[in-house]
Amino acid sequence: MSLHIGIDIGTSGVKAVLIEGVAKVLAEAARPIPVSIPHLGWSEQSADLWLEATFDCLDQLTASVPNLMGAVAGIGLSGQMLAALLLDESLKPLRPAMLWNDQRALIECAELRALCPDIGLRTNGAPDPGITLPKLMWLAKHEPRVMDAARMLLLPKDYVRLALTGEVASEPTDAGGTQLLDCASGKWDASLCALVGWNPDYLPPLLRPWSPAGILRPDLAARWAMGRGVIVAAGAGDNMASTIGVGAARPGDAVLTVGTSGVACIVDAAFHPGPQKAILTSAHAAPDTYLSMGVVMSATATLDWVRHLTGTDTATLVAETEAFAATGRLQDAPVMLPSLTGIRTPLNRPDAMGRIDGLHPGTTRGMLGYAVMEGVAFQFADCVAAQRSVGVLAGRFAMVGGGSRSAIWARLLASALGSPVDLPPGAHVSGPAGAARLAAVATGASLDILSVQNGNAHTILPDAGLADLLAQRYARFVALLPVQG
Ligand code: XUL
Repeated sequence: MSLHIGIDIGTSGVKAVLIEGVAKVLAEAARPIPVSIPHLGWSEQSADLWLEATFDCLDQLTASVPNLMGAVAGIGLSGQMLAALLLDESLKPLRPAMLWNDQRALIECAELRALCPDIGLRTNGAPDPGITLPKLMWLAKHEPRVMDAARMLLLPKDYVRLALTGEVASEPTDAGGTQLLDCASGKWDASLCALVGWNPDYLPPLLRPWSPAGILRPDLAARWAMGRGVIVAAGAGDNMASTIGVGAARPGDAVLTVGTSGVACIVDAAFHPGPQKAILTSAHAAPDTYLSMGVVMSATATLDWVRHLTGTDTATLVAETEAFAATGRLQDAPVMLPSLTGIRTPLNRPDAMGRIDGLHPGTTRGMLGYAVMEGVAFQFADCVAAQRSVGVLAGRFAMVGGGSRSAIWARLLASALGSPVDLPPGAHVSGPAGAARLAAVATGASLDILSVQNGNAHTILPDAGLADLLAQRYARFVALLPVQG
C-alpha cells in the first residue's frame, strides 16, 4: 500500500490529508492561522506561520495514525496564490508576505496598465493589487531596502517546500499568479521582470505540478515516522489543486471553491484571458489545459466577520443560518454585497467595500449569515456569466471547500447559477486531496488519476420555488454594486 499526503497552505489555516489510492481520506489535520491587517486594506502573513502550521499538521497526522506514516511515498503541496514573499541571499524572509487580498497597490496597477497596456492578455489577468507584480512595484517605492536585499521570490507553498526539502522550485499554475510569467508559453518573461527591475535569476525554476521537486529532509522524515526518500511534488495553486482534488481535469469541468475566497474555476482547452472582466487565467494542474478563475474576494471570510462581530462559532452561525432559511421567510433578511476586500471579477474594483441593505429591529444573526451566503452566490453567478462572455464555458459544477459543508449555501449556488451543483465526497478537503493526487503522479501513478471522480456525488438542484424571490433580491444586490473599474 502506498500512501500520499497533501498539504494546503490556506489563508485562514493549513490543512493536511493522508490519502490512500486516488481519493480515500485516511486521516485529516488542520491548524488555523491569523491574517494581519496593519492598515486598512493591507493583508499580510508571516511565512513562519505557514511552517509552524504545516509542521503541526504533520505532527498531528503522526500522532493519529503513527503506523501508516511509514507507507507515505510522496507529499504534495497546494497553497494560497498571488502572495509576494521576498527572501534574502540566505533564503530568509525579508518581511511578512503580502497576500492575495492585499489592496494597497492601487496606484501601481494604474501605472502598470500605462507601462504595459497588453499585460492582461499576456499574463494571468488585468493588474490587480492582489497580484504579485503590482506589489513589487509598491515595495520598490515604499520599502526599497527590501527590494535591494531580495534575491528570491517564492509563493507560499514553494516556501514550505523549501523548508521540507531545501529545494527552490515552482510550477506554472502558481507562478502565473505573479504576473511575471507569459501564460500562454508557461515561461518566466524577462520583459515583465524589467518593468519593476526584477532580476529573472531571482525566480525559482519551473517544474510540472506533478513532477518530483525534492526529497523530504531525513530529520523531518524521522520526526514524522516516514521512511527515507519521500518525494515532495511540485504541487499547484490552491484553486488548481482543489479542482484536481475532485477529478476536474477536462475542458468544461467546473468547480466552485468556497473558502476564504470563492472562485469559479473552469477548465479550458485553450488560453482564453478575460482581463476586461478581471478574470484570472493560468495553467491548470493537468496536461494541456488552463484554468479560468472568476474570483469572489470574500466568501467564508465574510461569514467569519459576522461570526467575530456577533461573538459566536462557525457551527452556531451556520446552524442559525440554516434554521432561518428553513422558516421560508427569506424576504426578511437583508441583501448584502459581501465584498469586504474589494471586487475582482467582473467589476475590477479592488477598492470596493461591503454593503448591507435592509437592517431592521428583527434582523438576526441567522439572517446575516443568509445574506452573506446569498450575496456570495450572486457573485458566483456574475463570475460565471463573465467567463461565458469571454468564451469559457462551464459544464457541470461541483462545490468544494469549507463552505461545501452548508446545505443552504449549495442550494443558493445551484439556484443563482440555474444549474445542478454536485457535492462530491471529500469536498471540504479537495485542496490538500488534489495536492496528494499530484504527489501520487510524482511517485509513479498514471496522469489519468487526475480526472478520476471521487465516487457518488450528492447533487443539489436549483430550487424553482426560490426563483422569483431571488430575482427580486438580485436586483437589490445589483443596486449595491459599484461601477466597473
Ligand atoms: C485566486 C485567489 C484566491 C487565493 C486564495 O486568484 O487569489 O483564491 O488563491 O487562497
